[in-house]
Amino acid sequence: MLVFAIETSCDETSVCIMDKNRHIYSHIVHSQEIHKKHGGVVPELAAREHLNVLQEITEKAFSESNISLRDINTFAATCGPGLIGPLLIGSTYAKSLAIGNNKPFIPINHIEAHILSPTYNNKITYPHLSFLLTGGHTQIYLLENKEDISLIGETVDDALGETFDKVAKLLKLKYPGGPQIELSAKLGNELAYKLPMPMLNQENLNMSFSGLKTAVSILVKKNKPNNKIICDICASFQLCITNILIGKLTKALNLLNDKSINISSLSVVGGVSNNKYITNKIRTFLRNENIDLYLPHKEMMSDNAAMIAWSCLNKKKLNEDIFFKPNPRLKI
Ligand code: KG4
Ligand code: ZN
Repeated sequence: MLVFAIETSCDETSVCIMDKNRHIYSHIVHSQEIHKKHGGVVPELAAREHLNVLQEITEKAFSESNISLRDINTFAATCGPGLIGPLLIGSTYAKSLAIGNNKPFIPINHIEAHILSPTYNNKITYPHLSFLLTGGHTQIYLLENKEDISLIGETVDDALGETFDKVAKLLKLKYPGGPQIELSAKLGNELAYKLPMPMLNQENLNMSFSGLKTAVSILVKKNKPNNKIICDICASFQLCITNILIGKLTKALNLLNDKSINISSLSVVGGVSNNKYITNKIRTFLRNENIDLYLPHKEMMSDNAAMIAWSCLNKKKLNEDIFFKPNPRLKI
């Protein structure tokens, strides 16, 4: 069973050829540079760039893997959630290949693919918690097993990756902001500024990050940031969001414990899982709770087509649907 998968939900154009034994024959991720000068993703530009590069990277994937289009058994593509223009480009391209080669088309949920990504390189134990931290979503999911996934908490406003990007823009750091903030934070004093942690003391698993952006914007106006101040703000920001995440994790474990659900492992997935400061702090916290931390393979952390292929290969029943309409707010 060979899958050809496409990911185009935001600003990464990616294709992957994978077989059922999880062997990757080719995996190409093209990160669109065009958004850097705008400090954030411009949906229309993203869609055009997907259209420009999809054919080229598809041809490259087949030529470097020495696999022919006719060998592919299934075509898969992200159908949501994401930006509608980019979703339409990738899914229509995959559907056309499926029709042209008389093979099934499988729509894939981007969030589900992120959640399943650590099962590619880890033997996950259940019940399991998944902390999904991306540019568009910040959610906590409870997994009884690979198929039984329920949402138990989420941000009520900005997503965490989005907050990293917006704070970076305020500090005049490059897009995407996450990696830049992580770098600058290494040189800063994390106790320099006390930033707000809204909703931390509420007895639910929801989070709020938009106030942090406002707090940083006030700091920027007051201080005329030099390099030292920028590094201190980055370090204080990272400490603050890590405290929010660990505070909500503690609540999640307690609430589940009250329902006799004893979590045995946790994963952090999505672009923000690249952040070693955050994952190391979470790992240390979990060690005291006797809970294992799993992370996706490096190439499956940020948006990529390998996790789309893997999600397709994990389906018990292939729900082939050539008429599936991409949905920007697709739910699991
Ligand atoms: O999962 P992803 O690639 O795309 C979405 O599905 O949204 O996540 C992208 C987000 C961006 O906001 C980016 O700033 C953030 O992941 N990110 C990071 C780091 N690397 C990427 N955030 C914090 N620290 C990082 N090292
Ligand atoms: Zn993503």
